[in-house]
Amino acid sequence: MTIGNACREREFASSAPWPVQRIRAVFNRAAAGYDREPLRVYGFSADRLIRHAGIRPGQKVLDAGAGTGAVTFAAAQCVGPTGRVIAIDTAEQMLDRAQDRIGQFGITNVDLHLMDAAQPEFRSGYFDAVLCGHALDLMPDMEAAVRSWMRVVRPGGTIAFSGFGPGTFEPLAGLLRAAVARTWPPDAVPPVQGCHGVATIDCFRELAGTLGLAGGQVAEEPLGYHLRDAGEWWDVVMGSGLREPVDRLDAVPADAVRSAHLAEVARLAGADGLWLDVRVLFATATRS
Ligand SMILES: C[S@@+](CC[C@H](N)C(=O)[O-])C[C@H]1O[C@@H](n2cnc3c(N)ncnc32)[C@H](O)[C@@H]1O
Repeated sequence: MTIGNACREREFASSAPWPVQRIRAVFNRAAAGYDREPLRVYGFSADRLIRHAGIRPGQKVLDAGAGTGAVTFAAAQCVGPTGRVIAIDTAEQMLDRAQDRIGQFGITNVDLHLMDAAQPEFRSGYFDAVLCGHALDLMPDMEAAVRSWMRVVRPGGTIAFSGFGPGTFEPLAGLLRAAVARTWPPDAVPPVQGCHGVATIDCFRELAGTLGLAGGQVAEEPLGYHLRDAGEWWDVVMGSGLREPVDRLDAVPADAVRSAHLAEVARLAGADGLWLDVRVLFATATRS
């Protein structure tokens, strides 16, 4: 079965999917800045994903595309000492940061593995729940990824994933794309925003509802907040996948893009700072 129109028509859907090696390289570079305060959206979103998924004490949970562990540690708290969270990611440096937190807080119910989250290598029906925070839309074949999670979750178990909805990070992300495009050599491949880009409710609904999953629900929640200034917006860029087109510029154009872009962004700041618009989509479904 192939995913329907909503997924094909997503913004940026014409960009070629990023192979997992490219995702790994981007997030290995982003890892050092990922847990900075301006990117607190991932913590907010992780808490909401756990709520939507209804994670309970004693459960075995897979966190697919775990990164530095925003969802992992929120889930670990919910499953408690009788449960376990297995966190997998392709970017070693993201997992290194999760490992640091395990050591720092003495967490005993989390395991980390370097693994392709779209092909988890676990026994069929092993998990009570599979969670994926902001990583599904980075996977080249989202449908295959969800199917692989359906295999490893038990009948009656939960699959829940989140992604950024339309409008997220705008107009800032659009200004960044325009700034990069002005500098990009005209004959070079145009920069792409992400693997699939911004998800839509319809796309998420198709994924949750047409793969044989029961009771698919999709909710959109506004999780925006104020950044102090344009410099904090640059922290968001460099701590996330948004940095990829900037990384591909040579050093001097990258500096020029940064200064021109941040001057534009600074003009949008008001008395409360710079608004970071964030809408997060949460999809939950049960394996029948
Ligand atoms: C935006 S981060 C989200 C991290 C975390 N789930 C959170 O909510 O903060 C995306 C993560 O997905 C990982 N990722 C993307 N595609 C992957 C794949 N096919 N296999 C494993 N990890 C993947 C990236 O390496 C990155 O750490």
